[in-house]
Amino acid sequence: MKRQPVIQSFGARRPQPHPQQSGGTAPTPAHPSTTRKANHQKNQSCFGFRKGGIFTANIQTAKRFDGITGSAIREIFKYLTTPGIISFAGGNPSPDALPDTLCADIARDVLLQDGKRILQYGATEGYPPFVESLTAYVKKHLGLTLEGDGILPTTGSTSGMDLLCKALVDPGDTVLVESPTFLGNMQTLRLYQTHLVGVPSDGEGIIPEALEELAKEHHPKMLYVIPNFQNPTGRTLNAERRRRVVEIAGKYGFIIAEDDPYRDLRYTGEHLPTLKSFDTQGLVVYMGSFSKVISPGLRVGYLIAEKGLLRKCTIGKQGTDLHTPSLNQAIVDAFIRRDLLDQHIESILPLYAEECRRMSEDMATLPGNPQYTVPEGGLFLFAEMAPEYNMTELFQKAVEKKVVYVPGTYFYPDGGHHNTLRLNFSNSTLEQIDDGLARIGSAMRK
Ligand SMILES: Cc1ncc(COP(=O)(O)O)c(C=O)c1O
Repeated sequence: MKRQPVIQSFGARRPQPHPQQSGGTAPTPAHPSTTRKANHQKNQSCFGFRKGGIFTANIQTAKRFDGITGSAIREIFKYLTTPGIISFAGGNPSPDALPDTLCADIARDVLLQDGKRILQYGATEGYPPFVESLTAYVKKHLGLTLEGDGILPTTGSTSGMDLLCKALVDPGDTVLVESPTFLGNMQTLRLYQTHLVGVPSDGEGIIPEALEELAKEHHPKMLYVIPNFQNPTGRTLNAERRRRVVEIAGKYGFIIAEDDPYRDLRYTGEHLPTLKSFDTQGLVVYMGSFSKVISPGLRVGYLIAEKGLLRKCTIGKQGTDLHTPSLNQAIVDAFIRRDLLDQHIESILPLYAEECRRMSEDMATLPGNPQYTVPEGGLFLFAEMAPEYNMTELFQKAVEKKVVYVPGTYFYPDGGHHNTLRLNFSNSTLEQIDDGLARIGSAMRK
């Protein structure tokens, strides 16, 4: 019998028929007049629903939300107010790594220098000095020529993913995702009503042979991949596979969304070439972010994409947020221009490297024969326990012991895998890592 997960509201998705599977064909869009009539009837039913003496709207939300209940990680945040709780759940940078004083000084400087432009409405295409410094930065750091491509500042890479979906996918399109993968972007893909198909991966990232088989079978519109220190597994796609994955995309004609927020958080080994650097056909869209290396609160990321596709993303952005806040772009611009970014990254790497090492060592002490990849960078460790350990059910016991993690099931497009969990090490001290892992061990032993 299939066990019910304990935390049912966490990003759980009720099974719903895929448009192309349910009737064999994609849904036919309704004629606008029919839609208007239906909406009129729907709106009428929005009023007059009496609950406890109060009129409550009975709002019929969009079908795209059917079965979507919100991110598991956001739900876990509610436990963080418990005194003494140790959280391995989020993906937050360490408070010690957030350059608050530096940002305050920079914000003052840039406002005094260019305040009238920064405080005015800006261009959707980005704050011009930032677009200039960012372009030079990605050419130098990512080795990209940007021939045929453009660059668009976005409000975090989350917004970049949303804009890409807005520009590229239709309801019912198949999108291949690593299995497991980042649940935030899976949620975005689901809101765009795509059909998610998981690509098997091993310790070196997604398996090209499996990818090719699935591409043949499903004719995907896009592959979503996190090549460096993947969220949740911490694994890195090896260089040869990167080349193969781009080759397969060219052969079967799908777009690759390369989501790369962790690249600069490398603790051991050499940087690997981006998938984008193998791309000669404009099929790879690169999504970058300054969230993990400066501040997630600034919400500054970027998209690099073939110019025609990027133009569609830019038009989409006009209706999303008009532009990314200019002050935040100006702050990141100053980090790049004043050579503060590389210095700042250098200064945080030893701290994270040590936390990563400590958590990897402590992980080995857990019961359940944990299988995990020791990551070369990033912020996460992911483990698969012996099948009898249901880490989704054990979550409540862990909460009682005042420690939280994310059950791994939420990262799999088809759920299951209840014997897995994801742990974040960047937001805890070494003592908290020792203590938190001991608490998880004790919850597992009882
Ligand atoms: C793989 C991945 N992509 C994107 C994001 C979101 O990044 P941003 O803050 O730039 O929106 C995260 C955050 O945890 C992530 O892990």
